[in-house]
Amino acid sequence: MTPGLTPPTAPLHSSGRDLEDISDQIDAVNVLLSSPTPTATTTAAGDPKPKANFRQYVTAPAQVQDFYKEQHEKQTLKFNLAARNAFHSKVRARMGIWEAMEKLNTLIDESDPDTSLSQIHHLLQTAEAMRRDGKPKWMQVTGLVHDLGKLLFFFGAQGQWDVVGDTFPVGCAFDPRIILAESFSGNPDTKHPVYSTEMGIYTPHCGLDNLLLSWGHDEYLYHVVKDQSSLPEEALAIIRYHSFYPWHREGAYRNFMNEKDWRMLEAVKEFNPYDLYSKSDAPPVVEELKPYYIELIDEFFPKKILDW
Ligand SMILES: [Fe+2]
Ligand SMILES: [Fe+2]
Repeated sequence: MTPGLTPPTAPLHSSGRDLEDISDQIDAVNVLLSSPTPTATTTAAGDPKPKANFRQYVTAPAQVQDFYKEQHEKQTLKFNLAARNAFHSKVRARMGIWEAMEKLNTLIDESDPDTSLSQIHHLLQTAEAMRRDGKPKWMQVTGLVHDLGKLLFFFGAQGQWDVVGDTFPVGCAFDPRIILAESFSGNPDTKHPVYSTEMGIYTPHCGLDNLLLSWGHDEYLYHVVKDQSSLPEEALAIIRYHSFYPWHREGAYRNFMNEKDWRMLEAVKEFNPYDLYSKSDAPPVVEELKPYYIELIDEFFPKKILDW
């Protein structure tokens, strides 16, 4: 830790392992929702529902439902602006990309090192799967870094709800295609005369760059790397929108898109399966892969030490 910088700590009520548990459960729900032949057709209460309405009735574990209820109630425009202000008000740490990967690994896994796949393994598996498929280097390195924003959890996050989970814009109506959208009823913005309207504070086809997306690991990392890397705009879109499932999977928020966003959508859709489906029980050998990825990191992060 650089002298003078705040040492990282998780929110008191929640550990890094708890964060990863809920993040894994959220991923599992997204795997189910992304499946072309869904098999789950029951509500959380176990009531059978018609397959045609599968998306509305997909089973989400109670813990995931509780998580989204809290997130959907607390992610207001007011909170979002405060989180952005807090982000710009200070530098939380200074470190290189590989160091950040190791840091995330340690912080999340130290309480329970033997369960599930580690953070560094997920990042390497995502990158390796793309490398095997001959995807360009910029995309491989994007896979390598895409979840580093979870460090936010240890940099003053209020809980899990402002770090992980599907993302959505604030300042306009919450689209019903957002997962468990009914839990927005407790969000005060749904009663606001402007924020509750379809366009809200935005204009038609203003471009997704201009939307305030819910605050979490995607948005945080995007702001960290956008001026501290030579990553192409597709890579930045993948980082910023990889949890924006209502947009990239469900087709919502098209009326905000500009021409560029359609190209970004293709990139995000290309990336998504590598995030969801590259998880396997055979962990990659970190030390063997490290030299290759250090080279990629050096190519796309010439600054070497980044402000976080
Ligand atoms: Fe993520
Ligand atoms: Fe991921």
